[in-house]
Amino acid sequence: MQRFSEAAENNKNHILLVLQERLPPNARVLEIGSGSGQHALHIAAEMKSIIWQPTERSEGMPDLEKNLSDYGSPNILGPLQLDLSSEQWPDTDTNCVYSANVMHIINEKLGESLVRGVGKNLSEEGLFILYGPYKYSGDFTTQSNAEFDTWLKGRDPNSGIRDFEWVTDLANQHGLSLQADLSMPANNQMLIFQK
Ligand SMILES: C[S@@+](CC[C@H](N)C(=O)[O-])C[C@H]1O[C@@H](n2cnc3c(N)ncnc32)[C@H](O)[C@@H]1O
Repeated sequence: MQRFSEAAENNKNHILLVLQERLPPNARVLEIGSGSGQHALHIAAEMKSIIWQPTERSEGMPDLEKNLSDYGSPNILGPLQLDLSSEQWPDTDTNCVYSANVMHIINEKLGESLVRGVGKNLSEEGLFILYGPYKYSGDFTTQSNAEFDTWLKGRDPNSGIRDFEWVTDLANQHGLSLQADLSMPANNQMLIFQK
């Protein structure tokens, strides 16, 4: 497995359990920032009626392609390039956009581009699922998230854990309303929006 992520390995089953409850059986999932593809591989293998479209920016594509070709299942489509610095999204028919651990890695402008792209590309009543850590009223949910934020900013001062209120306001501006905010293990949240 290229770019194996221990965190993705630990959280993939918790995420699966939520998606099994929340996704329609015919979900056509567009994933943004698939990374190693561990979530795509696990969830698609366990939910055989859904179609999963992984995407990545160009530098991450070779590793993602290798992992999907080594371990993929028939309901995972070949990965497509999608870089949030471009407004150009691949032409896909999707009723669920899924993005895990991306919002705190990218800068605010790219975060806005992500939500704007979802608003444009998601079908009516489709779901937008955003997994990762958030702050509430400016406060971290735990000390370890505060430390994680400091670490992130040491790598890229424009990255960092986003405010829940900033994300939900942005989503509202693009026609997406919050359906659920689920607390997940390891100080993460699963935000679920509907168009
Ligand atoms: C922390 S990793 C998360 C990977 C995977 N979703 C997971 O949860 O294990 C963040 C991902 O965001 C992607 N990313 C960073 N900047 C991006 C951009 N401008 N457009 C699209 N993806 C980007 C990275 O390539 C990386 O795969």
